[in-house]
Amino acid sequence: MSARAVRSPAGPPGAVAVAAVSTSCAHEASVTVVLGRCRELVRPALVEAVGRLHPWTGEMAAYALGWADTAGNPDPGASEGKGLRQALAVLGAEAVGADGADAVPGAVAVELVHTFSLLHDDIMDADALRRQRPAVWKAYGTGPAVLAGDALLAQAVTCLAEVPGHHTAAAVRRLCQTLNTLVSGQAEDLRFEHRPWYGPGAVGPEQYRSMAEHKTGALLGCAIALGAILGGAPDRTVTALDRAGRHLGLAFQAVDDILGIWGDPGVTGKPVRADLRQGKKTYPVLTALAGGGKAAHELAVLLDSGRQIDGETAERVAALVEEAGGRTATREEARRHLDAARRALRDVSLTHTAAQELDVLFTHLLDRTW
Ligand code: IPE
Ligand code: MG
Ligand code: MG
Repeated sequence: MSARAVRSPAGPPGAVAVAAVSTSCAHEASVTVVLGRCRELVRPALVEAVGRLHPWTGEMAAYALGWADTAGNPDPGASEGKGLRQALAVLGAEAVGADGADAVPGAVAVELVHTFSLLHDDIMDADALRRQRPAVWKAYGTGPAVLAGDALLAQAVTCLAEVPGHHTAAAVRRLCQTLNTLVSGQAEDLRFEHRPWYGPGAVGPEQYRSMAEHKTGALLGCAIALGAILGGAPDRTVTALDRAGRHLGLAFQAVDDILGIWGDPGVTGKPVRADLRQGKKTYPVLTALAGGGKAAHELAVLLDSGRQIDGETAERVAALVEEAGGRTATREEARRHLDAARRALRDVSLTHTAAQELDVLFTHLLDRTW
């Protein structure tokens, strides 16, 4: 297979994705610049990697990446996603004084892993919508979507394993460890669905954090760490950057939990309150229940009734979670982890510009609306 099989995405990098959050604010503009620059740097290798897949799995991958519609034609209205992980990898290399280009195989690997994980996650979570379009399993069927995810995963490892040079083994090892961790996080997430909402056996805040760090934080940490590894950084620096990424992931997941309940599906591109209907143990609900008080009590009764959570009930649940303080507590949780991520960056000596750009990205993620 050659790269010809995959059409190169049309339009300026991230134009669609960024449009959803565009404001005149200078901060937003710099986020757009950073993400766009990294996307441009990584794009040729990403297109090439997807072009090496079997044509059918490549077609599904191109759809998932927002490069094509289900007929394989360019889809200028589709979102390519934030491109956060590839940017973290590039900035990870630059932060340790290397060329961002050194991180490209790592950036490709983490974007492919991220795409794979979303394909499978939407099946596990029964979410029919992703980035404003039918999820891959809805568009192509569950079996094909599983296979496309497998193909992306295999290609991610291949891309990294093919890098010449003496950092390759460490990079592949890091990616494979992360994959194991991510699977553990997804396992915890799914198992938590069957745990009680409160009382003995309920999911505690530390268990939630462990799950969120595994399913989301590990890959963000891996993204920056891979950039640093491929850039030849010492272990101490790699460890600090990985820690920053993991805390960023915890902040990111807390915001994801908020958007899952109160986000605008027209902006997030995902179904709203699906987490509630699915019995997901998200931070806002867990902290609301733990807070006690009248709203928490009503919430507990509602969640415990055994009734299917329909649209109306989900709306009431959301209101009660807010009243019981779950939304505020989750913002605070996100803020705490963002601060910890920043502290981890300060633990090591990094190049000034890349450190600033990482900071811009970190800050943006707390206030994101999609
Ligand atoms: C997804 O977590 C984590 C992985 C894909 C590994 P969620 O299920 O909470 O994320 P969204 O809300 O579907 O994006
Ligand atoms: Mg999901
Ligand atoms: Mg999930």
